Amino acid sequence: MELFSIRDAREGDMPLIDAYAAAEGMDVIPGPERVRVAVDADDTVVGFCRLQDDVNGIAYVNPIVTYSAWRGYGVGKALIEDARAIAGELRLIARGTSEGFYRRLGFVDMPWSDVDLEAAEEDCDNCPYRAECGPVPMKLEN
Ligand SMILES: CC(C)(COP(=O)(O)OP(=O)(O)OC[C@H]1O[C@@H](n2cnc3c(N)ncnc32)[C@H](O)[C@@H]1OP(=O)(O)O)[C@@H](O)C(=O)NCCC(=O)NCCS
Repeated sequence: MELFSIRDAREGDMPLIDAYAAAEGMDVIPGPERVRVAVDADDTVVGFCRLQDDVNGIAYVNPIVTYSAWRGYGVGKALIEDARAIAGELRLIARGTSEGFYRRLGFVDMPWSDVDLEAAEEDCDNCPYRAECGPVPMKLEN
């Protein structure tokens, strides 16, 4: 039996999704639209990935989180593979702490000039935590 499976998010998943986001200092997720979740055998959410398109229809990962107790079991990798199958090219602004995860999955650096800050929903230039965060724009092409 698989440890987890991936499905569309539902309204009832949102409290857990928002708790996982809050634990990482991330904003509330507006709703289940374009959110895919990894669930355990009891259908409890153990990780999620939300996509948001830029003006050209390129998907930004915004954000991806694996519940802390489930890290290291392939949930994040499976969510990215799922997102890639749905959306094709993926872009994002990685936190410095997750840069290695994305590189492991084949993401490469992308110039800041290619970032759609609205789709990425980040304002790194005005963020007081920029130095600690060490944000890196990255993409995974088809
Ligand atoms: C980043 C995150 C989503 C990774 O999720 P995960 O479910 O633990 O990742 P996986 O188990 O699928 O790891 C896939 C591979 O990446 C590697 N990896 C995972 N996190 C890593 C990290 N921070 N640095 C380097 N490599 C990492 C794993 O070792 C694994 O390698 P393998 O294929 O050789 O076994 C998770 O750590 C997380 O939720 N972090 C907090 C939220 C966050 O920072 N999100 C990203 C915002 S930009």
